Amino acid sequence: MSCFSLTLVAVLMLLLFAGGIDAAGLYPTSQEFNNGTSFLSLAGSLQGLADTMSGSLIPYWATHQISAGDTAGYYGFSVTMDVYDFLLTSEQSSLALVNIFTAGDASLASVNTIQIGWEVSPQSYGDSHAHLYAYWSPTGFRTSECLDTNCPGLQPEAGASMVLGDIIEPVSQPNGIKQNITVKVLKDGILGDWLVHCGFNQHEPALIGHYPRSLFPGGLADRATDIHIGGIVVTRSTDLASMGSGYLPSTATAASFNNFQIIDQNGQASLVNHNLPGHISQPDTYSVSPIINGQFFHGGPFQSTP
Ligand SMILES: *[C@@H]1O[C@H](CO)[C@@H](O)[C@H](O)[C@H]1NC(C)=O
Ligand SMILES: *[C@@H]1O[C@H](CO)[C@@H](O)[C@H](O)[C@H]1NC(C)=O
Repeated sequence: MSCFSLTLVAVLMLLLFAGGIDAAGLYPTSQEFNNGTSFLSLAGSLQGLADTMSGSLIPYWATHQISAGDTAGYYGFSVTMDVYDFLLTSEQSSLALVNIFTAGDASLASVNTIQIGWEVSPQSYGDSHAHLYAYWSPTGFRTSECLDTNCPGLQPEAGASMVLGDIIEPVSQPNGIKQNITVKVLKDGILGDWLVHCGFNQHEPALIGHYPRSLFPGGLADRATDIHIGGIVVTRSTDLASMGSGYLPSTATAASFNNFQIIDQNGQASLVNHNLPGHISQPDTYSVSPIINGQFFHGGPFQSTP
């Protein structure tokens, strides 16, 4: 299992959300947007690919998602998320993230994606710390490693206070002080680049770099059609890993996402103050709470040792 595979599996799973089951029908689903069956069969073949690559490693996800449909689009988002870390084995990986992407024409190769958040992955980083995580791809996934700064992509901002891959510490205590990162990704109105802002325990995140528009010949050159937000774990079913703080959203110690905002074509940010459809692969294990005033909780099940 290379670190590439773990990242790839996570990416594939994000794409699979679009073939999943929606909890509520408030918005057009990715299925409707992608015209159903073709995307579902794509999801099926992706699952097969993921299974082949990951052996008995299983991805779990608990997210909210929003899809813009054919005519509208998203031009960015902003959110603050609690950060945790925990001991994981080299076969486990846990992420809290936002995936902003363009679903394209339902073929994997047309998916443009930028993902950002935090990840604990001993396989990728050689430790059990939380790291500032980002991944991009113009083709759903790539044959090269585009985690953090491992392949050209993000043009870093000179003097940026945070760099992709950085260890985030201190981290939150489920019963104590919370530490958070705020990530904001938005499309530059003139050049069309995707500007990435990040901050640790601060309200206004600072620019840390940009993904040039030219990286995304397909959809993200113009706009995003979908946003997924929540947690992903890759692990063995017999050895569950923590997502979020490790606690289910029904508990007071669950990890939160706060102040989730979506940015429109004019650069105007609006708080997501209504619930969105949830995509939850195994609700009794990992889950998300409904979104209320831009806030929701996510995660599951606590394991004290690897
Ligand atoms: C969706 O698929 C159906 C059946 O293949 C087709 O009739 C319809 O035109 C498609 N809709 C769009 C928006 O592509
Ligand atoms: C993020 O952390 C800072 C510093 O602890 C705190 O002031 C702020 O309220 C936190 N933000 C959220 C949304 O939890």
